[in-house]
Amino acid sequence: MKSRFTRIKEKIVDISVSDKQSIRDVLRKIDKGALGVALLMDSKTGIFKGLVTDGDVRRSLIKGMDLDSPVSDIERPKTITASVTASSEEISGLFGEAVRVIPLLDGGRRVTDLAFFDTRVYLPVSEPNLGEKELKYVSECVLTGWVSSAGKYVTQFEQMFAEFCGTRYGISSSSGTTALHLALLSLGIGPGDEVIVPSFTFISTANAVVFTGATPVFVDSDIQTWNISAHEIEKAVTVRTKAIIPVHIYGHPADMAPILDIADRYNLAVVEDAAEAHGALYKGKKTGSLGDMGIFSFYGNKTITTGEGGMLVTDNKELADKARILRDHGMDPENRYHHSVLGYNYRMTNIQAALGVAQMERIDQIVQQKCTNAVFYNDALGEIPGITLPPQAEWAKNIYWLYSILIDEKSFGMSAGRLAAMLKIKSIETRPLFLPVHQQPIYDTKQHLPVCEYLSSSGLSLPSSVNIDINEIGRIAWEIKNIRKKN
Ligand SMILES: Cc1ncc(COP(=O)(O)O)c(C=O)c1O
Repeated sequence: MKSRFTRIKEKIVDISVSDKQSIRDVLRKIDKGALGVALLMDSKTGIFKGLVTDGDVRRSLIKGMDLDSPVSDIERPKTITASVTASSEEISGLFGEAVRVIPLLDGGRRVTDLAFFDTRVYLPVSEPNLGEKELKYVSECVLTGWVSSAGKYVTQFEQMFAEFCGTRYGISSSSGTTALHLALLSLGIGPGDEVIVPSFTFISTANAVVFTGATPVFVDSDIQTWNISAHEIEKAVTVRTKAIIPVHIYGHPADMAPILDIADRYNLAVVEDAAEAHGALYKGKKTGSLGDMGIFSFYGNKTITTGEGGMLVTDNKELADKARILRDHGMDPENRYHHSVLGYNYRMTNIQAALGVAQMERIDQIVQQKCTNAVFYNDALGEIPGITLPPQAEWAKNIYWLYSILIDEKSFGMSAGRLAAMLKIKSIETRPLFLPVHQQPIYDTKQHLPVCEYLSSSGLSLPSSVNIDINEIGRIAWEIKNIRKKN
């Protein structure tokens, strides 16, 4: 796993002073190393005695010491050190607001390396969490030549993912978008049909409907969950409506019971777009397993990734069989190279699936880490006036695909856009919330959907990768508080 600190062994000589030297010497060293610290060593043995920070020097001068006073007279708090053999995780856990340099010692208490936490390290909104297993399985595909869509990892990934969702079938595909297209085609949706979709979503949800020749009908969101409003769905049903696609936006489930009830009453299919909600729970059941079919995305910024990739899950054998045929050029599975329906090449490769299997082996851990990071964020941001935390309905488990907040311009003192620009200067990336699809130039329906328009204009997604830790979340919250205060 990627660590957030760098090792800067080469700086050791630049910033080392012996306890016989003066404060002037220490200041020279601090100046040279540009890390705000010097390493104090025993003049006889070379054994490490502790860090001297520029703050320690400043306080000693204020107390009356002068530049020629011995450095050993400076009062210093205890230094946090680690063994040079400590793991990256252990070292990461030692950094804090005031601890930016950690000397790494050998058994004889000599400094053999330095761990440096650079507060200017760029924090992206999302980043894949890839490790040795991913490398091993992908390498195996390359070494064995199984690089295309035939190969053991494809079926293994499909089975693992279906089991994870609690569904009977998993059909992998080349992307979340193609999984959506396959789902709608399998359900027989086509020209003349209408499909109800939320406007507050990624464009694919609507595009997949258009690919089939049907028409997407945009509906507003519920302010409590940011997801499609069941009340608004019912108002949008017409004689042409064939399906509803609820999206579990940013990892929080849509309120499925009233949606399934409407679907039942009007005889509509339900395709859950769970592209952002791997492992999220609706009343204890996994998202993707509640409708007729569910789809997921494994794009690089998703909770687990296959680079590009998607999955369709269902309990319905007939739909699963149809989707498999459509995914594979419409080829008859019993009669190779016979094509009785118009199909597509939407297959996932063995290389992608190899990544997927490695990711599935620790999906629970990844999801858990996302939830833990959300708790850290909630604690750190909860008291700041003008910030609304992400939704968390009592019947849902949000997996916080992207940890997203709303900014009230009046009480926060600036817009979400301005906050984003100021965080960017601090090397903290953010992402605006989705522009409602009904306002996208290719759709532009001239509807007024107030909830999703409000969410879009006032929200912001913060760094949400599982690679970030409590210290980095602390740094982000600290910057947000500071920006608000200074404004
Ligand atoms: C809600 C939603 N639906 C569909 C997709 C499409 O997935 P993909 O990018 O894998 O095609 C995405 C993601 O990117 C998404 O966020």
